[in-house]
Amino acid sequence: MITVIGAGKVGSAAAFDILRYKISDVVLIDTNEKAAQGEALDMMQAAPAIEFDGKIRGTSDFKEMAGSELVIVTAGLGRRPDMTRFDLMNTNAQIVKTIVKQVVKYAPHCKLMIVTNPVDIMTFISYKETGFPRTRLFGMGNILDSMRFRTYIANELGVSREDTRGLVIGEHGDSMVPLFEYASVSGIPATSLLTEEQMDKIYHATVTSGADVIQLKGSTVYAPGMVIAIMADAILTGRNRVMSVSTCLCGEYGTSEVSIGVPVVLGKKGVEKIIELELSNKTKERFDKSVAVVKEAIAALKD
Ligand code: 2OP
Repeated sequence: MITVIGAGKVGSAAAFDILRYKISDVVLIDTNEKAAQGEALDMMQAAPAIEFDGKIRGTSDFKEMAGSELVIVTAGLGRRPDMTRFDLMNTNAQIVKTIVKQVVKYAPHCKLMIVTNPVDIMTFISYKETGFPRTRLFGMGNILDSMRFRTYIANELGVSREDTRGLVIGEHGDSMVPLFEYASVSGIPATSLLTEEQMDKIYHATVTSGADVIQLKGSTVYAPGMVIAIMADAILTGRNRVMSVSTCLCGEYGTSEVSIGVPVVLGKKGVEKIIELELSNKTKERFDKSVAVVKEAIAALKD
């Protein structure tokens, strides 16, 4: 069973994707009980059309998460067009701390995925607050950026999005680092297909991709919902997918006391392995800068 906390747009989209791809039953928890129940009812009514028998329950009772293999925290304020992810930080920190206390109480053995923004900071706060091992606690951020990176590589080259591969590391925010040196199109190095100018264009499109959607429609919904479902699938089925996930580092990439996006093997235990990539000097510099941005924000957090 999977629990999704927060029945807003992202939480509901994730819950629905988890159901329709038949990954798991879902408990959807929100302090607004009617909203949670309404979303659950709406999803259940879609079941005959897309043939899933998974159970979905909406509630405001945190006890209902007991027994969950995976708990996903999406609750918190969304980012408005005039806000950076850091503007959200202090309010969402309080919300996330309150929620993860409930997780420790009712689902102490679960894997815990943080989605609430700014996600790297919320993941680090949750790590400190819960005392969970870092294998079982991680954040969804860079995998979404990686999907956007792949989309823009495909668009620029006019090839199928399915054939593009690529990773983004660092902060899930303005200092993220798309890795051209590890991107490919069906195994062909992307650097041999793209001009410097095209790479620059893709780099900037990737960095602003979330904000571009927010500017147009107020929030991102389908891409984060889908990516959460993909991560949930990797964990519940133990597929050991390789993805960029916000992970608490203890010496890897030359840093610690921070959660930030790096490639990991995501499987049954959660973060099964952290993959340490060799980075070019330019990329390493960018990544270190990104680490510094997140660390500064953590240091600026109010108690
Ligand atoms: C996104 O990048 C806002 O973090 C959210 O879609």
